[in-house]
Amino acid sequence: MEILIFESAEKLAAHAALLIAACVNEKPYAVLGLATGSTPVETYQALIAISKMGQVDFSKVTSINLDEYVGLSVEDEQSYARFMKDNLFDSINISPTNTHIPNGKAKNPLLECHRYDALIVEKGGIDLQILGIGPNGHIAFNEPCDYFPMTSHLVDLSEETIQANARFFESRDEVPRQALTMGTGQIFKAKKILLLASDESKAEAVTSALLGPVTPMCPASILQLHSNVTFLLDSSAASGILEAPGVYYKEVH
Ligand code: F6R
Repeated sequence: MEILIFESAEKLAAHAALLIAACVNEKPYAVLGLATGSTPVETYQALIAISKMGQVDFSKVTSINLDEYVGLSVEDEQSYARFMKDNLFDSINISPTNTHIPNGKAKNPLLECHRYDALIVEKGGIDLQILGIGPNGHIAFNEPCDYFPMTSHLVDLSEETIQANARFFESRDEVPRQALTMGTGQIFKAKKILLLASDESKAEAVTSALLGPVTPMCPASILQLHSNVTFLLDSSAASGILEAPGVYYKEVH
């Protein structure tokens, strides 16, 4: 476990983008696990800038996204499929056929989850997984519950997640109540994981994930057991761990 602390979200994003580009440069056929939400937006912008400078080539890369809202497709502005197009895919040379997101419009969500699980296996698993963290400690849409879901599944979003994500919709009522998400087990199998967190609103979740017990009530806490995970935090998100005894972190300037 490595913990890197940055003085700003901008510096965090620049560093995260360099790590992603380095992974692709080392392994042109890399499988990237990608996240949506506010947190990775600046990282994707930095990655686009690196790509425009010709310092990374995504032509052979495969991407596998974490999750999608049930009922939304790429035509819906709030869908994660649309988010990825707008915030990354349309601005880099990744082949659209190599980008994968659960189909939120699938008639049979269970079959869609099986398809997604098979896809991850077929692609050889995830080389580098990018994660955000929910204020309730969720990773992907694995919400706090009494077990760690291993595989892709249909999930009822928690009230806290619906509230947190309402900012992307016209009103809270428009937030889909369900999503298809990769399981915690699949995330855990990624060869390397980068968890990005910025802002004070993430401080409690980050503190529980790093210092609390490993419990599915804080899904991100499972990462304490992963052998190759880096938390990239801005100083606000890191505020709960700075003084904690026995926590080793590096401040990156
Ligand atoms: C998004 C995802 C979620 C978000 C989390 C944080 O694909 O899987 O777990 O990473 O909800 O979202 P933001 O970054 O919007 O605070």
